[in-house]
Amino acid sequence: MTFTIAIDGPAAAGKGTLSRRIADEYGFHHLDTGLTYRATAKALLDRGLPFDDEAIAADVAQNLDLAGLDRSVLSAHAIGEAASRIAVMPSVRRALVEAQRGFAAREPGTVLDGRDIGTVVCPDAPVKLYVTASPEVRAKRRYDEILAGGGAADYGTILDDIRRRDERDMGRADSPLKPADDAHLLDTSEMSIEAAFSAAKSFIDAAL
Ligand code: C5P
Repeated sequence: MTFTIAIDGPAAAGKGTLSRRIADEYGFHHLDTGLTYRATAKALLDRGLPFDDEAIAADVAQNLDLAGLDRSVLSAHAIGEAASRIAVMPSVRRALVEAQRGFAAREPGTVLDGRDIGTVVCPDAPVKLYVTASPEVRAKRRYDEILAGGGAADYGTILDDIRRRDERDMGRADSPLKPADDAHLLDTSEMSIEAAFSAAKSFIDAAL
């Protein structure tokens, strides 16, 4: 039997970094499920297909290849926005969740991060983490990241985007973002990645 670690939380809370660290530490496979929504959105954009047609979006989602996902080509802001729009469509979610569950079954273990892993995709995962931070801290991290990469950014615009994305992700009817009842909460507002990692490690080691 494989061992799955489910990591959820809002945008820019630090789940990605934490998930990669955990996957490296335990030699587990890692899937950033946000990329499955982003890749579906990008395929629609690239082909000039509409965003409001659920049947078309679900068809694209069904044919998604998990092997080809790469954040560096899917990181554009417009793709994230489009992803959160198609993520409200139940038949898009059904197709992507099925692929994600297939991934979660890989041996010897898996780390999946997203918005609904502990609640919907892998409700029986033996370890669930809900990683969060205040919108202001998350906006500041995004802002610093963009500047460090040589780009230009406006903090206020980023904060507005984060708030809007939170509202959409937490407010949708199908699989809203929320902590599973049995998730460990990690608020990284005033916590280093090192401290978050060691807290996560102690929860995992206790369950292994
Ligand atoms: O995490 P990331 O910003 O890449 O995700 C993009 C969008 O995909 C999110 O805003 C959310 O709407 C959607 N998503 C989701 N369920 C997941 C992962 C991402 O609805 N498990």
